[in-house]
Amino acid sequence: MTSYERWTLRTEHTSYTVRLSPDGPWAELDAWGPHGAEDGPSALDWSRRTHYITPADAAPAEYLPQGQRPFTGADLVVGHSGHERGVWWEFTGAEQDADGLRLTFTDALAGLRTTLCYTTVPGTDVVLRWTELTCTGESELRLERLDSGAVNVPVAAGARLTYLTGQWSQEFTHTQLTLKRGTFTMGSTQGVPGHAYVPWLAVQDAALPDDGTAPTYGIALEWSGNWHVTAEAEPGGAVRVRAGRVPHEGVVVLAPGETLTTPRLACAFSPEGLDGLARVWHRYDRHLTGERLDRTRKVLYNSWEATGFDVEADAQLELAKAAAEIGAELFVVDDGWFTGRADDTGGLGDWYPDPAEFPQGFGQFVEDVRALGLGFGLWVEPEAISPRSRLYAEHPEWVYRVEGRPGRLVRNELLLDLGRTDVQDFVIGTFDRLLTEYPVEYLKWDMNRPPTERGRPGEGPADRLDLDAGHVTGYLRVLDHLRTAHPHVTVEGCAGGGGRIEHATVARTDVVWPSDNTAPLDRLRIQHGFLHAHGPHVMSSWVTDSPGVFDPRPRSLAFRFVLAMCGVLGIGADLRTWDPEQRAEAARWIARYKEVRDVVHHGEARLLGSPDDATCGVQYTEADGPRVLVAAFSTGVLDGAPLVPGRPARLRLRGLDPAARYRDEETGTEYSGAHLLHYGLPLAWTAEHDARLAVLTRG
Ligand code: DGJ
Repeated sequence: MTSYERWTLRTEHTSYTVRLSPDGPWAELDAWGPHGAEDGPSALDWSRRTHYITPADAAPAEYLPQGQRPFTGADLVVGHSGHERGVWWEFTGAEQDADGLRLTFTDALAGLRTTLCYTTVPGTDVVLRWTELTCTGESELRLERLDSGAVNVPVAAGARLTYLTGQWSQEFTHTQLTLKRGTFTMGSTQGVPGHAYVPWLAVQDAALPDDGTAPTYGIALEWSGNWHVTAEAEPGGAVRVRAGRVPHEGVVVLAPGETLTTPRLACAFSPEGLDGLARVWHRYDRHLTGERLDRTRKVLYNSWEATGFDVEADAQLELAKAAAEIGAELFVVDDGWFTGRADDTGGLGDWYPDPAEFPQGFGQFVEDVRALGLGFGLWVEPEAISPRSRLYAEHPEWVYRVEGRPGRLVRNELLLDLGRTDVQDFVIGTFDRLLTEYPVEYLKWDMNRPPTERGRPGEGPADRLDLDAGHVTGYLRVLDHLRTAHPHVTVEGCAGGGGRIEHATVARTDVVWPSDNTAPLDRLRIQHGFLHAHGPHVMSSWVTDSPGVFDPRPRSLAFRFVLAMCGVLGIGADLRTWDPEQRAEAARWIARYKEVRDVVHHGEARLLGSPDDATCGVQYTEADGPRVLVAAFSTGVLDGAPLVPGRPARLRLRGLDPAARYRDEETGTEYSGAHLLHYGLPLAWTAEHDARLAVLTRG
């Protein structure tokens, strides 16, 4: 073995090359980019030029412990008996096969074996990385930092970081900063990824334009609990991004013989800017969805915004009838269908239909909905429990709590300790009962309450419990059960809007709910951010009333439909108040959506401009067919200002064949690909006409 031993992982269009450092026993990035980028001297090879730090501190290290990397940020911090908190390891072997690469480093003194694991994902440009930590000694190890991995990006003038941020009702807001020196951190200690940040980051060289031509690197952490992503502009000129889970108790104890596997870190590359990177992530989401991608995502109606907690059979049936008439295919009863749920102060945990609201029986109600030709769906919040519920009276020990401390209510709820097997079994049993007793084909899994007092009294010291990982394991176990025991049920992931959206959830649900905010212009921004990280086929989106509960800026019904059709279309409006004209228009949009939804969910999506532009849109190009869809929107210039009638607008399309001809199916106009690429699709906006779904067919 030479000290320059290198290993290359090849994805569809990219390669990721790691080498053993010439300076010490660690792995470092040699090259990451298009195929062949590894063929030449490494662009990250600056380590010998930085003084007053160690070579490991200056290296584009893949993963290093405190001890070996003392100054610039370690990926692993381990406390062990009688020694330093540092680890000094030796390289002890590499294994590479068709499945991936494993590089092992061993510290005999600490009693730690660390294996850096890599695999590629077929049909994508994603490399998955994770780390296995094994306690090989006789004393336990205390893992204080246990990142999944780190990636290095060479930059000439600092890094442009793109991230998705916000709060409840403003999730997935596309945000950028330039990091020249210093550290940028985002994360969550809320037990779910949270509304504030998405465990997703894109990195570009700030010296290059943000126009779809810059090489763009992305990471996303597959973890439904606490996490961090930290980017550091290092002295040598690279930006190094570390990511991993954050144990709630501060440490995870690893007993002799035990192995801990970190969450997977998905690493993606595109030479085509953020929009190209988005397509890499869309493809990866399609891979995670697997064969369920071929399942048609039905148009749903959800009654939450129409009736709130006031759920009763007659009103629900009236809504279901109206929904069926305009072409909806599914009817989902949201919060409020179960006993004790007149408002948000009770009922959670007692998952039995309220007999007072369904006097003919819930089974009859479900049959009445199905007789309208609609599938039936239910909302649940299985981790939540109301203090006034029967379940809480029977099992007060099932909630997170700290002995001698008051329990706090969030949204009037407590949280079940889903790390407990008996609680998982209760949730599984509840699902099995509901899904076998009633012909439910859609389940919306909500979660509205982050854990506050995390503890499990009587179960030993808190630092041994790893409660965050326990909750994630329980959550994933129940989701896996739903997929295997009830494969026909479509699952929607929701956490008070978009509070729990990451790859572990996407892999086990069919759609996710990005935000409770469905107001047109707000939603446009939310979906624009969302589509940077996740695919249209998982993006649940509803048409709601205008003005609604959030943003009152007026937009047409067409705008709201075209916007919701950018993902998986649903209706959340109170259809009882819609006049015949509105219902007829809705029926036309739904019929159009059914004709094109396969292109939206399976095609290649391109983000055209941003909501900051007066005109923006999303283009979907059919993978094996002639259709190109363009969902185009006029945003107006000022909040609440009337649109300027006749403002000339064009949306330049991308990825078309310049020599081919494209026919606009609505207007009959024919364009050359070159025209659409160069000048763009003309859009004649007026005050009434503020959105368009164009279907272009390639001749
Ligand atoms: C929060 C969700 O995001 C909403 O869609 C709705 O289901 C409510 N919870 C119900 O309580």
